[in-house]
Amino acid sequence: MSARAAAGAEAGTVDGTADLTVDIDAVLDRESVVVCCGSGGVGKTTTAAALAVRAAERGRRVAVLTIDPARRLAQAMGLTELDNTPRRVAGIDESAGGELDAMMLDMKRTFDEVVATHADPERAQAILANPFYQSLSSSFAGTQEYMAMEKLGQLKAAGLYDLIVVDTPPTRNALDFLDAPQRLSRFLDGRMIRVLVAPARAGGRAYVKVLSVGIGMFTSVLAKIVGMQLLRDLSTFVAALETMFGGFRERAEATYELLKRPGTTFIVVAAPERDALREASYFVERLAEESMPLTGLVLNRVHPTRAPGLSGSRSLAVAEMLTDSGASPLTAAVLQLHAERIALAAREQQLKARFTSAHPHVPVLEVLAQATDVHDLSGLREVGASLAAGAAG
Ligand SMILES: Nc1ncnc2c1ncn2[C@@H]1O[C@H](COP(=O)(O)OP(=O)(O)OP(=O)(O)O)[C@@H](O)[C@H]1O
Ligand SMILES: [Mg+2]
Repeated sequence: MSARAAAGAEAGTVDGTADLTVDIDAVLDRESVVVCCGSGGVGKTTTAAALAVRAAERGRRVAVLTIDPARRLAQAMGLTELDNTPRRVAGIDESAGGELDAMMLDMKRTFDEVVATHADPERAQAILANPFYQSLSSSFAGTQEYMAMEKLGQLKAAGLYDLIVVDTPPTRNALDFLDAPQRLSRFLDGRMIRVLVAPARAGGRAYVKVLSVGIGMFTSVLAKIVGMQLLRDLSTFVAALETMFGGFRERAEATYELLKRPGTTFIVVAAPERDALREASYFVERLAEESMPLTGLVLNRVHPTRAPGLSGSRSLAVAEMLTDSGASPLTAAVLQLHAERIALAAREQQLKARFTSAHPHVPVLEVLAQATDVHDLSGLREVGASLAAGAAG
């Protein structure tokens, strides 16, 4: 398998058809940042963890940055504390010289760290104690994505790892992850914020005066609605944040650039379902627009098509016959189930074919639906093996 084919998008064979094979092991051995993205619930966290375990057992020093892993998976990886520090995962086969650290991202804590490192102590203290900051930092839409980027930047700068695997937050829209830094900038730039911050910027005394006398209709109406104290909080917070704003924006941009550099690759995860694949399509197109490298699409929780020799229609026909005659209800039920599974698998393959015809240069890696949830290292190894086995063309 060639690096050329692994690069995905531009790969093509001599006869002009796309070479859609991906050697996931080569990707894991070569890249330094792998970002797993996709819409909600499709298996991003599972895929990220599986890739990280596999890379570590192949000998690399790996960190996996997970977001909200299911509780049992978190426990299996020793992720019991939300402290924003990567911790060694026990149970990894380190004989090839690799190791795995894992951390769960705590968005609020990351935000606090950013404030603490980029504002002088007094100012940082004022921001951290501000109730508005406290609610903003844990609820503002997009901060989680922004913080994931921020943490990636930090881990990358620390230089302790060969490979960082990044899981992305459960967003309605897979593009949120890419848009978050810009959205945060827009928020800080926004008109509403400008109005609110104006009094504070005019200096302490002016600020008091403005608030007590009330100049603008807007400000005083707003003060009635949201309350004077909140308005004061908001104003203080944004003014303080604004002094660090340049820093925020620069770092957001730097991390964004990091995503375009050689060594970074994206893996888009989707379930074999219409909505998830539509999101995946958007994402694939967006990555191409931004010149961000894509390894391929992971189609997760696929049902096997291995035809056991009994077609769906034939098994349905027999099931109907058995039901009509009332002879063997159990056999009829099993046959019915079999027919449904075949129909499901066929539907999944159809959706996959539709995706591939829209994106003929994007390799698709299938991961079979496991019998149970993936909640321990052996489950992750299975998913990893499935990924490595599988450029299903
Ligand atoms: N191939 C698979 N076979 C069986 N179960 C799976 C498979 N992949 C993922 N799961 C299970 O599906 C659930 C959702 O997976 P996961 O948490 O990885 O999705 P996610 O995309 O990270 O979700 P969210 O968007 O909420 O973060 C988990 O319980 C996981 O164990
Ligand atoms: Mg997740």
